[in-house]
Amino acid sequence: MTDSDLIQSALDARTRAHAPYSRFQVGAALRTADGEIITGANVESASYGLSCCAERVTLFKAITDGHNHFKAMAIASPGGAFPCGACRQLLAEQAPTAAILLIDSNNPEIITETTIQTLHPNAFTGDQLSSSD
Ligand code: THU
Repeated sequence: MTDSDLIQSALDARTRAHAPYSRFQVGAALRTADGEIITGANVESASYGLSCCAERVTLFKAITDGHNHFKAMAIASPGGAFPCGACRQLLAEQAPTAAILLIDSNNPEIITETTIQTLHPNAFTGDQLSSSD
């Protein structure tokens, strides 16, 4: 499969966002190690703080479907926004080596490629949890 499949999946997923409050629709598509594509989009709540970003919706879908190795995530939004800090942390834990492709949904040929290591270096991994008192 090619990056264009993954990118198109993120653009398609974006159309299923539930973002009536911000009107900022984001779609994400995650490629698993065995080549499947799992998609998601942001879901907002009338109680604003309960909203969940497209990246986390997608990661949680994939993990609870039994996937735990990921090759790439495409994220589509107006302007090709970078993931928020919370999503960077979750991606660092669950998809540390995945390529991250940021797609401008207004100009889908504009793609920024980066890595979680670049976006969130020195992430907390939980390795120290067992050394707590
Ligand atoms: N949002 C995402 O889904 N992903 C991001 O990377 C940034 C922000 C969502 C959260 C909220 O529903 C809306 O975009 C505005 O912040």
